[in-house]
Amino acid sequence: MRFRLPLLTTALLAVALTAAPRQDQKAAPQKPDDKAAAKQDAKAVKKEFAGSETCAACHEDISTGFKKNPHSALETNKKRGFDGKACEGCHGPGSVHAETNSAEDIRSPKRMRAAEIDTMCLSCHKNQPTHVGRLQSSHARNAVPCTSCHNMHREGEESSEFQLKRTAGVNKACASCHPDVWAAFQKPNRHKLPEGAMSCTSCHNPHASFMNRNLRLSGGNEPGCFACHGEKRGPFVFEHAPSRNESCATCHEPHGSTNPRMLKRAEIAPLCLECHSNIQAAPPATTVGGIPPAIHDLRSPRYRNCTICHQKIHGSNANGALLR
Ligand code: HEC
Ligand code: HEC
Ligand code: HEC
Ligand code: HEC
Ligand code: HEC
Ligand code: HEC
Ligand code: HEC
Ligand code: HEC
Ligand code: HEC
Ligand code: HEC
Repeated sequence: MRFRLPLLTTALLAVALTAAPRQDQKAAPQKPDDKAAAKQDAKAVKKEFAGSETCAACHEDISTGFKKNPHSALETNKKRGFDGKACEGCHGPGSVHAETNSAEDIRSPKRMRAAEIDTMCLSCHKNQPTHVGRLQSSHARNAVPCTSCHNMHREGEESSEFQLKRTAGVNKACASCHPDVWAAFQKPNRHKLPEGAMSCTSCHNPHASFMNRNLRLSGGNEPGCFACHGEKRGPFVFEHAPSRNESCATCHEPHGSTNPRMLKRAEIAPLCLECHSNIQAAPPATTVGGIPPAIHDLRSPRYRNCTICHQKIHGSNANGALLR
């Protein structure tokens, strides 16, 4: 488009742009004139650190609020290399911006791509154990940067606390992007997460993990569900194989369900028969159990509720058929 314009129009355009200084900058690389060239020179000037006090002169509110931010630790910590210039720990050297006041002369996460923000934050945080899975995470792969969950300078009660609150605040942040999961937590049988009794991060690492679904738990359910349901861990003399080897989510909906006990099925028999039958419609699991012996008349209602008899469904110390 630009290149199809007649030369004269282009020249006029350049003059018009010069009159509007902000846009002038954007046009500059295509059509340098004297002023733009001067700007370019200014940019060529090596950016130096200006120090937080310089920033405070023009960004008073942010600088005042920053005193409550854990990053103000950078201000005094000589080892990190940003003592006296904490703002520039994230925003980069600001001497040129302090002169020009132009947004383009300062590193600004508001205008950075998700991956660039992550890289910037991780330049200091990557060695923290909770962040090891970060770059492979579904959040990173889907352009959900650190700043979608962490506020830096926003005002208001919730964010004056720079780090997210562990329960209500975290859940709200997660729910804003995962409304379907939030809806599951409104079902009648569920964990009391909306009440603040736990948070999404009780089971998920918000920074990703090496497990599927960013879970804190592994296939063996350690420590996730066991952290609170230790009695299901065993060891049992008679294990129920899936409870040990599969995810608890093989049988339960961890976010909530209309079914009793947050089970995946409204009735017990179909749940069990997915593994204990020779007509496995869609086996959810890699382990398959034996077929119930002949005493089971599966047409009789008496045998539909398997756990009436197989009470120790997660494992038993007394009975190989998990009856008690
Ligand atoms: C002399 C005043 C002045 C000083 C000193 C100053 N700024 Fe700014 N800063 C501004 C103005 C004015 C804007 C708004 C620019 C705009 O919107 O085009 C701004 C905008 C910004 C932005 C937002 C850019 C964007 O994308 O909207 C950041 C970040 C910033 N400044 C950081 C800093 C840091 C860090 C320092 C200290 C190193 C600093 N400023 C020093 C005046 C100043
Ligand atoms: C730990 C990293 C970090 C530090 C340290 C930091 N900032 Fe920021 N700053 C950000 C991020 C991220 C944003 C983007 C908006 C947000 O997430 O709150 C931002 C945004 C800004 C903006 C633009 C605000 C707007 O909404 O237009 C200004 C101005 C600014 N910072 C100034 C400062 C000053 C002054 C300091 C030091 C007192 C400072 N920052 C320290 C990360 C940081
Ligand atoms: C220049 C280094 C540096 C950069 C860049 C940086 N941080 Fe930090 N961050 C720190 C330091 C230092 C602390 C203070 C706590 C500590 O000593 O670990 C901290 C603390 C935090 C905390 C609070 C930790 C707690 O336990 O309360 C969070 C959350 C955090 N940073 C997130 C971020 C995010 C998000 C970004 C990018 C926008 C970022 N940081 C960029 C150095 C940095
Ligand atoms: C999906 C939301 C989310 C994203 C994205 C996110 N965080 Fe966090 N972060 C949290 C929550 C929630 C906590 C509170 C800790 C908890 O409950 O486990 C936290 C805690 C932290 C802490 C405190 C110490 C720790 O590790 O527990 C640091 C530091 C931190 N985050 C830095 C970052 C950085 C750096 C990024 C980007 C690379 C990032 N976070 C991305 C939600 C997020
Ligand atoms: C800014 C939006 C946003 C926020 C905030 C957010 N997520 Fe996500 N999350 C996504 C996107 C996008 C994906 C990838 C697509 C998908 O699976 O839905 C995702 C994926 C996930 C996954 C699936 C991982 C997988 O491997 O399938 C989990 C688990 C998850 N998020 C948990 C959380 C938790 C816990 C929080 C709060 C600490 C949170 N998210 C906050 C946008 C967000
Ligand atoms: C009690 C533990 C637990 C809590 C609390 C929890 N999750 Fe999950 N979540 C899981 C498990 C386990 C899976 C894997 C389910 C599977 O494999 O079928 C999962 C899967 C997911 C997925 C992948 C897609 C899906 O819907 O299955 C997303 C996204 C997710 N959780 C987000 C969240 C968010 C957001 C919260 C908080 C509102 C949350 N979770 C709270 C255990 C939990
Ligand atoms: C932070 C602690 C915690 C974690 C982690 C946790 N639970 Fe729970 N769970 C509870 C509490 C407390 C209850 C009792 C119900 C209530 O009051 O919320 C419960 C109840 C249940 C129930 C019974 C619900 C009913 O209707 O009787 C099931 C099933 C369950 N949890 C499965 C799981 C699974 C599966 C996981 C892992 C994906 C898990 N829980 C992780 C605390 C936890
Ligand atoms: C093979 C399917 C299956 C697996 C795997 C499974 N459960 Fe269950 N669970 C059930 C059934 C069926 C019930 C309902 C029993 C009843 O109503 O008598 C139940 C009930 C529960 C209850 C509520 C009643 C009680 O016994 O406390 C909790 C809590 C629970 N399970 C947690 C877990 C945890 C944690 C895991 C993972 C270690 C897990 N379950 C794995 C089938 C399973
Ligand atoms: C995810 C698949 C799966 C589901 C669902 C499942 N089981 Fe099992 N079950 C197994 C496997 C595998 C074994 C071990 C079989 C073996 O060792 O030969 C087993 C063993 C058993 C045993 C006997 C002990 C034994 O070693 O043979 C009983 C009784 C049993 N299951 C009952 C149930 C009941 C009742 C349900 C429904 C609440 C159920 N199972 C759901 C896979 C499953
Ligand atoms: C009325 C009580 C009762 C009900 C209901 C019941 N079972 Fe059984 N089941 C038993 C008894 C008793 C045994 C032990 C039989 C034996 O030792 O020969 C058994 C054995 C089993 C076994 C083999 C265990 C082994 O040690 O080899 C499986 C598998 C099994 N049942 C699955 C189921 C399934 C699936 C359901 C629901 C569809 C169910 N049962 C309902 C009483 C019951």
